Amino acid sequence: MADTGYMARKSVADIVGSADVDEGHKLSKTLGATSITAMGIGAIIGAGIFVLTGTAAAQFAGPSIMLSFVLGGIACAFVGLCYSELAAMLPVCGSSYTYTYATLGEVFAWIIGWDLILEYAMGAATVAVGWSGYIVSLLRNVGIDIPPMLAAAPGTVVKLADGSTITGLVNLPAILIVAILTAMLVMGTKESARINNIMVAVKLTVVVAFIVIGAFFVRQANWHPFIPANTGQFGNFGLSGILRGSAVVFFAFIGFDAVSTAAQEARQPQRDMPIGILGSLVICTILYILVAGVLTGLVPYGDLNVPDPIAKGVDAIGLNWFAILIKIGALTGLTTVILVLLYGQSRIFFTMSQDGLLPQFFARVHDRLHTPYLSQMLIGTVVAIVAALTPIGVLGEMVSIGTLFAFILVCGAVIYLRRSDSEAARPFRAPGVPVVPVLGILFCLLLMAGLPLVTWLRLFVWLVIGLAIYLSYGRHHSVLRHPERKHR
Ligand code: ALA
Repeated sequence: MADTGYMARKSVADIVGSADVDEGHKLSKTLGATSITAMGIGAIIGAGIFVLTGTAAAQFAGPSIMLSFVLGGIACAFVGLCYSELAAMLPVCGSSYTYTYATLGEVFAWIIGWDLILEYAMGAATVAVGWSGYIVSLLRNVGIDIPPMLAAAPGTVVKLADGSTITGLVNLPAILIVAILTAMLVMGTKESARINNIMVAVKLTVVVAFIVIGAFFVRQANWHPFIPANTGQFGNFGLSGILRGSAVVFFAFIGFDAVSTAAQEARQPQRDMPIGILGSLVICTILYILVAGVLTGLVPYGDLNVPDPIAKGVDAIGLNWFAILIKIGALTGLTTVILVLLYGQSRIFFTMSQDGLLPQFFARVHDRLHTPYLSQMLIGTVVAIVAALTPIGVLGEMVSIGTLFAFILVCGAVIYLRRSDSEAARPFRAPGVPVVPVLGILFCLLLMAGLPLVTWLRLFVWLVIGLAIYLSYGRHHSVLRHPERKHR
């Protein structure tokens, strides 16, 4: 049993057992399919639809960004089925990190945990930049002008209303929102299911209102050409543009995996997990395609490369009150996503720290507040710095490639565990294994292929840095490989 090599893996029985005894209490099973679906929608709809749809349409796909969403949705459906199986089978926090620990072993688990920083921390930074774009736009509506250079990353060229351009210096609003939400998380402010449901309702209302009202103002001429001709460069319009567009807007789907962390609290995980994961995915995919259609019908796609494209679409309608409402809705939506991502990051670090792969610092909980306050503050600081200094396009692509990589391992884990632990209880079984996970892997690879070489290189460098940290720290401190080191 004591495999102390790098490939040491946790047994499924141990992981399931730890879910029962962890921290001395069992979580109550109170969540039904509706709450879980609402939770999924709360985590999914954010900067992807409110910001990246516009940038991706303007730069890569034009009106055919709608097809990019179809492609992204198909990929996520296959992955979602795999997540559903693992979430019901291994109902513990840590998500794909935990699944990988049980399958490919410790070194891969570390790599995936390290990779998840891209999804969660960098994802939070991306959405914070999106938040900044909308708050600047909303404040402008009420007569307050934030100097553009103080709301954009260095090197970002900002087009002003009079047509002139300036270069960004630092994104101060992005720092502000990360700081406020970090403080809330440190203080232990919990989003109750009720508050979350209200926020989700606001967000959904705004999105649906945009689709319904916007549909009346669509100018069909804006949809022609539907697939703009390729410029001669891979990814710049044409079919390859649709692919690159879907790799970029894939960001919009991230978050359905967060649902898997609620598996322990689901009343009937075998039924509620797949409904929650797939239900939220289906609803969001339909909304995304419709939003993309209306947006590109309202504004010529070339004009959508702005920090607040949906607001630009509403401006084209010409209803000022509606513009303000949309911006408030977008800000609410973006805020919940940042909150969930910052929270999720600290919990993943917490699990990794308990496994000994990260210093105990990350699992230190405040005596009174009961939150991993030091870790949360460190995460907040790093996310704020990154959000202040990096353009949203670069961030979004890194998040997409990192998450796609994690998804591939999750699909692989389903195939592996069906063989290695064929007897383990599976409250939900993904249909058509191995075909469905293999298709999940292929679609994720296809989307990754749509990302530029420089993003692949960044991912590679990121993973090499992670491996170096594991070799110099994690492997010497791993609780699995050195049980005598178990703390607490
Ligand atoms: N899917 C989330 C968003 O679009 C991360 O903001």
